[in-house]
Amino acid sequence: MSTRDSPARRKATSTSSFGAGGRISHDASAYYARAFQPEIDASNVGVEQTAPEDSLDRIYAHSSEDMHELPDGSVHLMVTSPPYNVGKEYDEDLTMDDYRDLLRRVLAETWRVTAPGGRACVNVANLGRKPYIPLHAYVIADAAETGFQMRGEIIWDKGAGAGTSTAWGSWMSASNPTLRDTHEYILIFQKPHPKTGFGRRAPNGSENTIGKEDFLESTKSVWRFSPQSAKRASHPAPFPVELPRRLIQLYTFTGDVVLDPFIGTGATAIAAAIAGRRYVGYDTSAEYCAIAEERIAEAIAGT
Ligand SMILES: C[S@@+](CC[C@H](N)C(=O)[O-])C[C@H]1O[C@@H](n2cnc3c(N)ncnc32)[C@H](O)[C@@H]1O
Repeated sequence: MSTRDSPARRKATSTSSFGAGGRISHDASAYYARAFQPEIDASNVGVEQTAPEDSLDRIYAHSSEDMHELPDGSVHLMVTSPPYNVGKEYDEDLTMDDYRDLLRRVLAETWRVTAPGGRACVNVANLGRKPYIPLHAYVIADAAETGFQMRGEIIWDKGAGAGTSTAWGSWMSASNPTLRDTHEYILIFQKPHPKTGFGRRAPNGSENTIGKEDFLESTKSVWRFSPQSAKRASHPAPFPVELPRRLIQLYTFTGDVVLDPFIGTGATAIAAAIAGRRYVGYDTSAEYCAIAEERIAEAIAGT
C-alpha cells in the first residue's frame, strides 16, 4: 500500500489534532460533538411567510425600529451598515447605552421579519483611538442576545481607498503610536432553520446566480475592494454596491427578499434589483429615501 492510500492518509480528512489540508467530504462530526459547541435553539424561529406584493421594492421613510409593513419570517437576507453615532448629519449624540439600545431594537425587529434559515449581514467599522471602541464586538454580542447564530466575520480590506490618514500618534516613537484602521467588518449572522439547521433550500422556481470565480472569492474571509465616494453617492457614509452584491449572490436565490433597515442612498436595493431579488429599505431621512429611489430607477434603467 502506498503512503498516498494508507489509512492514516485517508483519515486526515476528519478533524484531527493537526487539522486537515483537503476539506472535500470532510467529516467534522468529532469537532461538533465537543462539549464547548453551543446548543442551537431553533424553537422560536417561527415560520416563513410571504410578504404582500405591494410591500416589496419599496423604501420606507421611517425608523426601522418598527418594520410593520413586513410580516414575520418574510425576509431572506438583511444587509446593512448602521449609523455610527459619530456626528454625521443623521447621527444623534447618543450615549453608548442608548446607541446599543437602538441597534438592539432594530436587531430584534430584523429577527422578527427574518425567515427561518435567513441571514443578516452587518457592515461596521470600529471607532476612536483613545480608547478604541470595538463596535463590531458589541454588534456580535447584541445579535447573539437576539437569537442570531454567527456564521463568520469578513474583513473588508479597503486598501489604498481607506484614505491617507496620518493619525499615527507619536511619529516613530514608542511613546504613543496609534493604529490606523484600513479595514471594516462584515459580520454574518443566521436565524437557524428548525429542519435544515444552517442550510436553506431554494424555493420552487428560484435559482442560484453566483458564478464560480465569485463563489471562490466571496467564501474567503478577507474581501478587497474600494470604498464608495461619499460625494458621488450624496451621502456621508455610503458603502459601494459591490458589498451587498457579493452578499446577495452568496446568500440568496432569485426572487428572495433583501432588507436594509438603514438603507441611506440605496446601495443594497440597487444590488438586489440588478440581481433579480426583491428589496425593502428603511431610512429616517426622507432626503436619502428620495435619492435612493432615484439611484434605483437609474440602475434598473441601465440593466
Ligand atoms: C451608515 S448610513 C447607511 C448608508 C448606506 N449603506 C448607503 O450605502 O448609503 C446609516 C443610515 O441610517 C439612517 N438612520 C439612522 N437612524 C435610523 C433609524 N432609526 N431607522 C432607519 N434609518 C436610520 C441614516 O439616515 C443613514 O442614512
